[in-house]
Amino acid sequence: VDQTYIMVKPDGVQRGLVGEIISRFEKKGFKLTGLKLTQCSKDLAEEHYKDLKGKSFFPGLIEYITSGPVVCMAWEGVGVVASARKLIGVTNPLEAEPGSIRGDLAIQKGRNVIHGSDSPESGKREVALWFKEGELVDWEPALASWLIE
Ligand code: GTP
Ligand code: MG
Repeated sequence: VDQTYIMVKPDGVQRGLVGEIISRFEKKGFKLTGLKLTQCSKDLAEEHYKDLKGKSFFPGLIEYITSGPVVCMAWEGVGVVASARKLIGVTNPLEAEPGSIRGDLAIQKGRNVIHGSDSPESGKREVALWFKEGELVDWEPALASWLIE
């Protein structure tokens, strides 16, 4: 089963969008296995975005992500990584489809309210990076048989 790391970025927390964003994933039917609010260190932010080191926007990105608390989530389900990217919308919110989180709720790349892992491998890596083992819960949703045949 795939897992993805979803994070409400500091602008999303400050703007009061946490409930709205969690709600979209809940309604879709994926399984939440981890959830916490944290203030991330510069080291953790740099490790998380290490593939982007060297980009001109990297220092600004690290400043943005460490500028306030973030809400960290792990979601599980077959196809969850690609589906979450669709729910989120493309990086530039002006180009993101209406109906997507970024398309509905954001304007700029540098304030695009949410992160989502870009592949099943990244999902695994990022969930392990942001959560300790004891913070993740394996559980059986009571509605599972109404969502998955
Ligand atoms: P994440 O889910 O956050 O990883 O976004 P993404 O996968 O859609 O984009 P990517 O991994 O390429 O970039 C990570 C983040 O860096 C983006 O979500 C933006 O917040 C930021 N970013 C990417 N490109 C730019 C850019 O050209 N300018 C600025 N200011 N920020 C950028
Ligand atoms: Mg990315």
